Amino acid sequence: MSAIEVQGLCPIKGEIIVQGSKNAVLPMMAGAVLNKGITVIDNVPRIQDVFCMMGILDSLGCSCVLDGHSLTINAAGLSRFSIPREEMEKMRSSIMLLGALLGRCKEAEVYYPGGCMIGKRPIDLHLMALEKMGVLIEEGEGDEPLRASVPRLRGTVVDFPFPSVGATENAIFAAVAASGKTILKGCAKEPEITELCRFMNNMGASIRGAGSDLLVIEGGLPLHDSRFTVCGDRIAGGTYLLAAAGAGGELLLTGTESAGLLTVTTVLKRMGALVYAEDELIYVKAPERLQASSIKTDPYPGFPTDLQSIMMAVMSRAEGTSIIEEKIFENRFKTAVELEKLGAEIIVEEDIARIVGHTHLKGSHVEAKDLRGGAALVAAGMMAEGTTIVSSCEYIMRGYEDICRDLSGMGACIRYVEEPAGR
Ligand code: UD1
Repeated sequence: MSAIEVQGLCPIKGEIIVQGSKNAVLPMMAGAVLNKGITVIDNVPRIQDVFCMMGILDSLGCSCVLDGHSLTINAAGLSRFSIPREEMEKMRSSIMLLGALLGRCKEAEVYYPGGCMIGKRPIDLHLMALEKMGVLIEEGEGDEPLRASVPRLRGTVVDFPFPSVGATENAIFAAVAASGKTILKGCAKEPEITELCRFMNNMGASIRGAGSDLLVIEGGLPLHDSRFTVCGDRIAGGTYLLAAAGAGGELLLTGTESAGLLTVTTVLKRMGALVYAEDELIYVKAPERLQASSIKTDPYPGFPTDLQSIMMAVMSRAEGTSIIEEKIFENRFKTAVELEKLGAEIIVEEDIARIVGHTHLKGSHVEAKDLRGGAALVAAGMMAEGTTIVSSCEYIMRGYEDICRDLSGMGACIRYVEEPAGR
Protein backbone atom coordinates (compact mmCIF):
# COMPACT_ATOMS: atom_id res chain seq x y z
CA MET A 1 0.00 0.00 0.00
CA SER A 2 1.63 3.23 -0.96
CA ALA A 3 -1.21 5.73 -1.06
CA ILE A 4 -3.63 7.12 1.50
CA GLU A 5 -7.30 7.82 0.82
CA VAL A 6 -9.07 10.46 2.90
CA GLN A 7 -12.80 11.26 2.85
CA GLY A 8 -12.98 14.88 3.90
CA LEU A 9 -15.25 16.76 6.29
CA CYS A 10 -15.79 13.92 8.78
CA PRO A 11 -16.51 15.21 12.31
CA ILE A 12 -13.19 15.27 14.20
CA LYS A 13 -13.15 14.53 17.91
CA GLY A 14 -10.85 12.20 19.77
CA GLU A 15 -7.69 11.43 21.70
CA ILE A 16 -4.18 10.50 20.62
CA ILE A 17 -1.23 9.28 22.67
CA VAL A 18 1.64 10.37 20.52
CA GLN A 19 4.43 8.01 19.32
CA GLY A 20 8.06 8.27 20.44
CA SER A 21 10.11 11.01 18.83
CA LYS A 22 11.79 10.35 15.49
CA ASN A 23 14.19 13.27 15.78
CA ALA A 24 15.21 12.19 19.29
CA VAL A 25 15.65 8.46 18.71
CA LEU A 26 17.73 8.61 15.50
CA PRO A 27 20.71 10.47 17.05
CA MET A 28 20.42 8.25 20.15
CA MET A 29 20.80 5.18 17.93
CA ALA A 30 23.96 6.72 16.46
CA GLY A 31 25.22 7.63 19.95
CA ALA A 32 24.76 4.01 21.09
CA VAL A 33 27.86 2.99 19.11
CA LEU A 34 30.02 4.97 21.55
CA ASN A 35 29.35 2.31 24.20
CA LYS A 36 31.07 -1.03 23.53
CA GLY A 37 28.09 -2.87 24.93
CA ILE A 38 24.30 -2.83 25.21
CA THR A 39 21.94 0.12 25.03
CA VAL A 40 18.19 -0.35 25.39
CA ILE A 41 15.87 2.41 24.16
CA ASP A 42 12.16 2.29 25.01
CA ASN A 43 9.20 4.04 23.32
CA VAL A 44 10.89 3.76 19.92
CA PRO A 45 8.52 4.58 17.04
CA ARG A 46 8.21 1.79 14.44
CA ILE A 47 8.96 4.06 11.47
CA GLN A 48 10.98 3.56 8.29
CA ASP A 49 13.81 5.87 9.38
CA VAL A 50 14.33 3.76 12.52
CA PHE A 51 14.36 0.54 10.44
CA CYS A 52 16.84 2.19 8.09
CA MET A 53 19.17 3.24 10.94
CA MET A 54 18.95 -0.31 12.37
CA GLY A 55 20.09 -1.61 8.96
CA ILE A 56 23.08 0.74 8.94
CA LEU A 57 24.09 -0.23 12.50
CA ASP A 58 23.79 -3.93 11.64
CA SER A 59 26.01 -3.39 8.57
CA LEU A 60 28.67 -1.90 10.86
CA GLY A 61 28.69 -5.06 12.99
CA CYS A 62 26.22 -4.03 15.73
CA SER A 63 23.17 -6.12 16.48
CA CYS A 64 19.78 -4.37 16.69
CA VAL A 65 16.56 -5.99 17.88
CA LEU A 66 13.27 -4.05 17.95
CA ASP A 67 10.75 -5.84 20.15
CA GLY A 68 7.49 -3.87 20.13
CA HIS A 69 8.75 -0.40 20.95
CA SER A 70 11.90 -1.48 22.79
CA LEU A 71 15.12 -1.40 20.83
CA THR A 72 18.23 -3.24 21.99
CA ILE A 73 21.49 -2.23 20.34
CA ASN A 74 24.54 -4.34 21.06
CA ALA A 75 27.52 -2.38 19.75
CA ALA A 76 30.19 -4.70 21.19
CA GLY A 77 30.82 -6.29 17.78
CA LEU A 78 31.16 -3.05 15.80
CA SER A 79 33.91 -3.86 13.32
CA ARG A 80 33.50 -1.41 10.43
CA PHE A 81 33.62 2.37 10.17
CA SER A 82 32.61 2.71 6.53
CA ILE A 83 28.99 3.29 5.46
CA PRO A 84 28.07 2.45 1.84
CA ARG A 85 26.64 5.27 -0.29
CA GLU A 86 23.21 3.57 -0.75
CA GLU A 87 22.80 3.39 3.06
CA MET A 88 23.90 7.01 3.61
CA GLU A 89 21.53 8.29 0.96
CA LYS A 90 18.47 6.67 2.52
CA MET A 91 18.24 9.19 5.33
CA ARG A 92 19.64 12.46 6.66
CA SER A 93 20.38 11.12 10.13
CA SER A 94 23.01 8.74 8.76
CA ILE A 95 25.41 11.71 9.06
CA MET A 96 25.12 11.44 12.87
CA LEU A 97 27.31 8.37 12.59
CA LEU A 98 30.26 10.49 11.47
CA GLY A 99 30.89 11.93 14.95
CA ALA A 100 29.87 8.71 16.70
CA LEU A 101 32.21 6.50 14.60
CA LEU A 102 35.08 8.94 15.06
CA GLY A 103 34.45 8.73 18.80
CA ARG A 104 34.45 4.94 18.76
CA CYS A 105 36.96 4.02 15.99
CA LYS A 106 38.90 7.27 15.39
CA GLU A 107 38.04 6.78 11.72
CA ALA A 108 34.93 7.08 9.55
CA GLU A 109 34.07 6.87 5.86
CA VAL A 110 30.74 8.31 4.86
CA TYR A 111 28.97 9.88 1.88
CA TYR A 112 26.81 12.96 1.84
CA PRO A 113 23.54 12.04 3.55
CA GLY A 114 20.14 11.73 1.88
CA GLY A 115 16.78 12.44 3.44
CA CYS A 116 13.95 14.71 2.30
CA MET A 117 14.88 17.15 -0.47
CA ILE A 118 13.71 20.18 1.46
CA GLY A 119 16.74 22.36 0.83
CA LYS A 120 20.51 22.41 0.42
CA ARG A 121 21.28 20.71 3.74
CA PRO A 122 25.09 21.13 3.73
CA ILE A 123 27.34 19.60 6.44
CA ASP A 124 30.00 22.34 6.65
CA LEU A 125 29.18 23.10 10.31
CA HIS A 126 29.48 19.40 11.25
CA LEU A 127 32.92 19.28 9.62
CA MET A 128 34.03 22.60 11.16
CA ALA A 129 33.29 21.31 14.69
CA LEU A 130 35.06 17.98 14.09
CA GLU A 131 38.10 19.67 12.56
CA LYS A 132 38.39 21.87 15.65
CA MET A 133 38.64 18.67 17.69
CA GLY A 134 41.59 17.53 15.59
CA VAL A 135 39.84 15.48 12.90
CA LEU A 136 41.46 15.34 9.46
CA ILE A 137 38.86 15.41 6.71
CA GLU A 138 39.34 14.44 3.08
CA GLU A 139 36.26 15.25 1.07
CA GLY A 140 36.40 12.65 -1.72
CA GLU A 141 35.89 13.67 -5.32
CA GLY A 142 33.27 12.12 -7.58
CA ASP A 143 32.28 8.70 -6.25
CA GLU A 144 34.78 8.71 -3.40
CA PRO A 145 33.58 8.85 0.21
CA LEU A 146 34.41 11.53 2.75
CA ARG A 147 37.22 10.12 4.89
CA ALA A 148 37.72 11.35 8.44
CA SER A 149 40.38 10.26 10.90
CA VAL A 150 41.89 11.46 14.14
CA PRO A 151 44.75 10.05 16.25
CA ARG A 152 43.21 11.50 19.42
CA LEU A 153 40.06 13.64 19.69
CA ARG A 154 40.82 16.65 21.87
CA GLY A 155 38.48 18.88 23.82
CA THR A 156 38.21 22.42 22.49
CA VAL A 157 35.91 25.41 22.07
CA VAL A 158 33.51 25.36 19.10
CA ASP A 159 31.43 28.41 18.24
CA PHE A 160 28.59 27.61 15.83
CA PRO A 161 27.61 30.58 13.61
CA PHE A 162 24.12 28.98 13.18
CA PRO A 163 22.39 26.61 15.64
CA SER A 164 22.34 23.49 13.42
CA VAL A 165 20.62 20.51 15.06
CA GLY A 166 22.71 17.89 13.28
CA ALA A 167 26.04 19.68 13.72
CA THR A 168 25.38 20.12 17.46
CA GLU A 169 24.61 16.39 17.77
CA ASN A 170 27.73 15.32 15.87
CA ALA A 171 29.88 17.65 17.98
CA ILE A 172 28.36 16.17 21.16
CA PHE A 173 29.38 12.64 20.11
CA ALA A 174 32.96 13.62 19.30
CA ALA A 175 33.26 15.70 22.50
CA VAL A 176 32.01 12.83 24.70
CA ALA A 177 34.86 10.67 23.35
CA ALA A 178 37.49 13.44 23.33
CA SER A 179 40.11 13.92 26.02
CA GLY A 180 39.47 17.01 28.10
CA LYS A 181 36.73 19.58 28.16
CA THR A 182 34.77 20.80 25.13
CA ILE A 183 32.68 23.96 25.16
CA LEU A 184 30.06 24.17 22.41
CA LYS A 185 28.72 27.71 21.90
CA GLY A 186 25.78 28.71 19.71
CA CYS A 187 24.27 25.20 19.90
CA ALA A 188 20.79 24.28 18.73
CA LYS A 189 18.35 24.18 21.69
CA GLU A 190 15.73 21.79 20.29
CA PRO A 191 14.16 19.53 22.97
CA GLU A 192 15.52 16.52 21.05
CA ILE A 193 19.06 17.76 21.82
CA THR A 194 18.21 18.07 25.51
CA GLU A 195 16.97 14.46 25.32
CA LEU A 196 20.18 13.36 23.60
CA CYS A 197 22.24 14.97 26.41
CA ARG A 198 20.15 13.13 29.02
CA PHE A 199 20.59 9.89 27.07
CA MET A 200 24.38 10.31 26.87
CA ASN A 201 24.63 11.29 30.55
CA ASN A 202 22.60 8.19 31.45
CA MET A 203 25.32 6.21 29.64
CA GLY A 204 28.07 7.80 31.74
CA ALA A 205 28.89 11.01 29.83
CA SER A 206 29.06 14.43 31.48
CA ILE A 207 27.20 17.09 29.49
CA ARG A 208 26.03 20.25 31.24
CA GLY A 209 23.87 23.08 29.90
CA ALA A 210 21.29 20.95 28.04
CA GLY A 211 18.48 23.15 26.75
CA SER A 212 20.71 26.21 26.48
CA ASP A 213 22.94 27.30 23.61
CA LEU A 214 26.10 26.54 25.64
CA LEU A 215 27.09 22.94 26.34
CA VAL A 216 30.04 21.97 28.51
CA ILE A 217 31.23 18.40 27.97
CA GLU A 218 33.86 16.58 30.04
CA GLY A 219 35.16 14.07 27.51
CA GLY A 220 36.72 10.65 27.85
CA LEU A 221 34.62 9.32 30.74
CA PRO A 222 33.95 5.55 30.72
CA LEU A 223 30.55 4.72 29.19
CA HIS A 224 28.40 1.80 30.31
CA ASP A 225 25.30 -0.19 29.35
CA SER A 226 22.12 1.82 29.84
CA ARG A 227 18.36 1.96 29.33
CA PHE A 228 16.47 5.11 28.31
CA THR A 229 12.90 6.04 27.32
CA VAL A 230 12.50 8.35 24.31
CA CYS A 231 10.23 11.37 24.74
CA GLY A 232 7.03 11.80 22.72
CA ASP A 233 7.23 13.20 19.20
CA ARG A 234 6.33 16.89 19.31
CA ILE A 235 6.30 17.09 15.50
CA ALA A 236 3.89 14.15 15.08
CA GLY A 237 1.85 15.63 17.96
CA GLY A 238 1.87 19.07 16.34
CA THR A 239 0.78 17.51 13.04
CA TYR A 240 -2.29 15.98 14.69
CA LEU A 241 -3.18 19.15 16.62
CA LEU A 242 -3.01 21.18 13.41
CA ALA A 243 -4.95 18.57 11.42
CA ALA A 244 -7.72 18.56 14.05
CA ALA A 245 -7.84 22.36 14.28
CA GLY A 246 -7.81 22.81 10.49
CA ALA A 247 -10.79 20.46 10.22
CA GLY A 248 -12.73 22.42 12.86
CA GLY A 249 -12.40 19.56 15.32
CA GLU A 250 -11.42 18.74 18.87
CA LEU A 251 -8.38 16.75 20.06
CA LEU A 252 -6.82 15.70 23.35
CA LEU A 253 -3.15 14.97 22.74
CA THR A 254 -0.99 13.29 25.37
CA GLY A 255 2.53 11.91 25.52
CA THR A 256 4.57 14.96 24.51
CA GLU A 257 5.72 17.95 26.58
CA SER A 258 3.35 20.84 25.82
CA ALA A 259 6.26 23.29 26.27
CA GLY A 260 7.86 21.91 23.08
CA LEU A 261 4.80 23.03 21.09
CA LEU A 262 4.28 26.42 22.74
CA THR A 263 4.85 28.42 19.54
CA VAL A 264 2.36 26.23 17.70
CA THR A 265 -0.37 26.42 20.35
CA THR A 266 0.18 30.19 20.60
CA VAL A 267 -0.50 30.57 16.86
CA LEU A 268 -3.54 28.29 17.08
CA LYS A 269 -4.97 30.50 19.85
CA ARG A 270 -4.33 33.58 17.73
CA MET A 271 -6.24 31.89 14.90
CA GLY A 272 -9.27 31.45 17.16
CA ALA A 273 -8.86 27.93 18.59
CA LEU A 274 -9.41 27.14 22.23
CA VAL A 275 -6.23 25.59 23.66
CA TYR A 276 -5.53 24.17 27.09
CA ALA A 277 -2.05 22.85 27.84
CA GLU A 278 -0.29 21.40 30.88
CA ASP A 279 2.77 19.14 31.27
CA GLU A 280 2.27 16.32 28.76
CA LEU A 281 -1.27 17.17 27.69
CA ILE A 282 -2.67 19.54 25.08
CA TYR A 283 -6.36 20.01 24.31
CA VAL A 284 -7.49 21.95 21.24
CA LYS A 285 -10.99 22.81 20.05
CA ALA A 286 -11.37 24.81 16.86
CA PRO A 287 -14.25 26.74 15.32
CA GLU A 288 -15.54 25.60 11.91
CA ARG A 289 -13.08 28.06 10.31
CA LEU A 290 -9.94 29.52 11.85
CA GLN A 291 -8.74 33.10 11.27
CA ALA A 292 -5.72 33.86 9.06
CA SER A 293 -2.37 34.49 10.75
CA SER A 294 1.36 34.92 10.06
CA ILE A 295 4.29 32.72 11.04
CA LYS A 296 8.04 32.64 10.53
CA THR A 297 9.98 29.40 10.94
CA ASP A 298 13.07 29.63 13.13
CA PRO A 299 15.37 27.42 15.20
CA TYR A 300 13.80 26.33 18.52
CA PRO A 301 11.98 27.94 20.32
CA GLY A 302 10.73 29.48 17.05
CA PHE A 303 7.98 27.97 14.92
CA PRO A 304 9.31 24.54 13.77
CA THR A 305 10.08 24.26 10.04
CA ASP A 306 8.85 20.65 10.33
CA LEU A 307 5.30 21.93 10.94
CA GLN A 308 5.33 24.67 8.32
CA SER A 309 3.73 22.65 5.49
CA ILE A 310 0.98 21.42 7.79
CA MET A 311 0.29 24.97 8.95
CA MET A 312 0.14 25.98 5.27
CA ALA A 313 -2.62 23.39 4.74
CA VAL A 314 -4.52 24.77 7.75
CA MET A 315 -4.14 28.37 6.49
CA SER A 316 -5.55 27.35 3.08
CA ARG A 317 -8.99 27.13 4.69
CA ALA A 318 -8.67 29.96 7.22
CA GLU A 319 -10.60 33.21 6.91
CA GLY A 320 -8.35 35.88 5.34
CA THR A 321 -4.81 35.93 3.96
CA SER A 322 -1.98 34.31 5.93
CA ILE A 323 1.76 34.75 5.50
CA ILE A 324 4.50 32.16 6.04
CA GLU A 325 8.18 33.05 6.06
CA GLU A 326 10.43 29.95 5.73
CA LYS A 327 13.83 30.73 7.23
CA ILE A 328 15.34 27.22 7.50
CA PHE A 329 14.76 25.03 4.42
CA GLU A 330 14.20 26.76 1.09
CA ASN A 331 12.40 23.89 -0.66
CA ARG A 332 9.67 23.28 1.89
CA PHE A 333 7.26 25.37 -0.19
CA LYS A 334 7.00 22.70 -2.88
CA THR A 335 3.97 21.35 -1.01
CA ALA A 336 2.13 24.51 -2.15
CA VAL A 337 1.82 23.15 -5.71
CA GLU A 338 0.07 20.01 -4.42
CA LEU A 339 -2.18 21.99 -2.06
CA GLU A 340 -3.27 24.07 -5.06
CA LYS A 341 -4.61 20.87 -6.67
CA LEU A 342 -7.05 20.77 -3.74
CA GLY A 343 -8.15 24.35 -4.47
CA ALA A 344 -5.76 26.24 -2.19
CA GLU A 345 -4.53 29.66 -3.35
CA ILE A 346 -0.85 30.17 -2.49
CA ILE A 347 1.52 32.74 -3.92
CA VAL A 348 5.17 31.91 -3.30
CA GLU A 349 7.94 34.49 -3.67
CA GLU A 350 11.35 33.29 -2.52
CA ASP A 351 11.04 32.53 1.20
CA ILE A 352 7.56 34.04 1.61
CA ALA A 353 4.23 32.32 0.93
CA ARG A 354 0.96 34.24 0.91
CA ILE A 355 -2.02 31.95 1.51
CA VAL A 356 -5.46 33.25 0.55
CA GLY A 357 -7.91 31.26 2.65
CA HIS A 358 -10.85 29.62 0.83
CA THR A 359 -14.10 28.41 2.36
CA HIS A 360 -13.92 25.10 0.51
CA LEU A 361 -11.12 22.81 -0.58
CA LYS A 362 -11.97 19.98 -2.96
CA GLY A 363 -10.60 16.43 -2.88
CA SER A 364 -8.15 15.43 -5.61
CA HIS A 365 -5.12 13.23 -6.41
CA VAL A 366 -1.96 14.69 -4.92
CA GLU A 367 1.56 13.43 -4.37
CA ALA A 368 3.72 13.54 -1.23
CA LYS A 369 7.12 15.03 -2.06
CA ASP A 370 8.62 14.83 1.41
CA LEU A 371 7.72 13.57 4.89
CA ARG A 372 6.05 16.64 6.42
CA GLY A 373 4.66 17.85 3.11
CA GLY A 374 2.97 14.45 2.76
CA ALA A 375 1.41 14.77 6.21
CA ALA A 376 0.20 18.26 5.21
CA LEU A 377 -1.63 16.81 2.21
CA VAL A 378 -3.33 14.23 4.42
CA ALA A 379 -4.41 17.04 6.80
CA ALA A 380 -5.68 19.07 3.82
CA GLY A 381 -7.63 16.02 2.63
CA MET A 382 -9.46 15.97 5.98
CA MET A 383 -10.55 19.60 5.34
CA ALA A 384 -11.56 19.05 1.70
CA GLU A 385 -14.94 18.02 0.29
CA GLY A 386 -14.96 14.53 -1.23
CA THR A 387 -12.07 12.08 -1.67
CA THR A 388 -8.37 12.91 -1.62
CA ILE A 389 -5.73 10.38 -2.61
CA VAL A 390 -2.21 11.08 -1.39
CA SER A 391 0.33 9.13 -3.45
CA SER A 392 3.93 8.25 -2.52
CA CYS A 393 3.01 7.92 1.12
CA GLU A 394 6.22 5.96 1.79
CA TYR A 395 7.60 9.41 2.64
CA ILE A 396 5.01 9.72 5.41
CA MET A 397 5.95 6.30 6.82
CA ARG A 398 9.49 7.55 7.36
CA GLY A 399 8.27 9.56 10.31
CA TYR A 400 4.72 8.54 11.29
CA GLU A 401 4.28 5.07 12.75
CA ASP A 402 0.67 4.75 11.55
CA ILE A 403 -0.91 8.03 10.48
CA CYS A 404 -4.16 6.31 9.43
CA ARG A 405 -4.53 4.63 12.84
CA ASP A 406 -3.88 7.92 14.64
CA LEU A 407 -6.16 10.10 12.51
CA SER A 408 -9.01 7.57 12.41
CA GLY A 409 -8.75 7.56 16.22
CA MET A 410 -9.95 11.16 16.09
CA GLY A 411 -12.73 10.51 13.62
CA ALA A 412 -11.04 10.94 10.22
CA CYS A 413 -12.24 8.67 7.40
CA ILE A 414 -8.85 7.52 6.18
CA ARG A 415 -7.20 4.30 4.97
CA TYR A 416 -4.19 2.95 3.13
CA VAL A 417 -4.94 2.00 -0.50
CA GLU A 418 -3.00 0.76 -3.53
CA GLU A 419 -1.27 3.46 -5.54
CA PRO A 420 -3.79 4.52 -8.26
CA ALA A 421 -2.86 3.12 -11.69
CA GLY A 422 -0.81 5.41 -13.93
CA ARG A 423 0.88 7.32 -11.09
C1 UD1 B 1 17.01 18.55 11.99
C2 UD1 B 1 15.78 17.69 12.00
C3 UD1 B 1 14.78 18.20 10.99
C4 UD1 B 1 14.48 19.65 11.28
C5 UD1 B 1 15.77 20.46 11.37
C6 UD1 B 1 15.54 21.91 11.79
C7 UD1 B 1 16.47 15.46 12.66
C8 UD1 B 1 16.66 14.04 12.22
N1 UD1 B 1 16.14 16.31 11.68
O1 UD1 B 1 17.58 18.47 10.70
O2 UD1 B 1 13.61 17.42 11.10
O3 UD1 B 1 13.71 20.15 10.21
O4 UD1 B 1 16.66 19.88 12.32
O5 UD1 B 1 14.90 21.97 13.02
O6 UD1 B 1 16.57 15.78 13.82
N2 UD1 B 1 23.05 24.06 7.84
C9 UD1 B 1 24.22 24.53 7.28
N3 UD1 B 1 25.38 23.81 7.48
C10 UD1 B 1 25.40 22.66 8.21
C11 UD1 B 1 24.20 22.19 8.78
C12 UD1 B 1 23.03 22.91 8.57
O7 UD1 B 1 24.24 25.55 6.60
O8 UD1 B 1 26.48 22.07 8.35
C13 UD1 B 1 21.78 24.81 7.63
C14 UD1 B 1 20.78 24.00 6.78
O9 UD1 B 1 20.98 24.23 5.40
C15 UD1 B 1 19.47 24.57 7.25
C16 UD1 B 1 19.72 24.89 8.73
O10 UD1 B 1 21.14 24.94 8.88
O11 UD1 B 1 19.18 25.78 6.58
C17 UD1 B 1 19.12 23.89 9.70
O12 UD1 B 1 19.73 22.65 9.54
P1 UD1 B 1 19.92 21.64 10.76
O13 UD1 B 1 19.47 22.28 12.03
O14 UD1 B 1 21.30 21.11 10.68
O15 UD1 B 1 18.87 20.52 10.40
P2 UD1 B 1 19.05 18.96 10.39
O16 UD1 B 1 19.95 18.53 11.52
O17 UD1 B 1 19.35 18.52 9.00
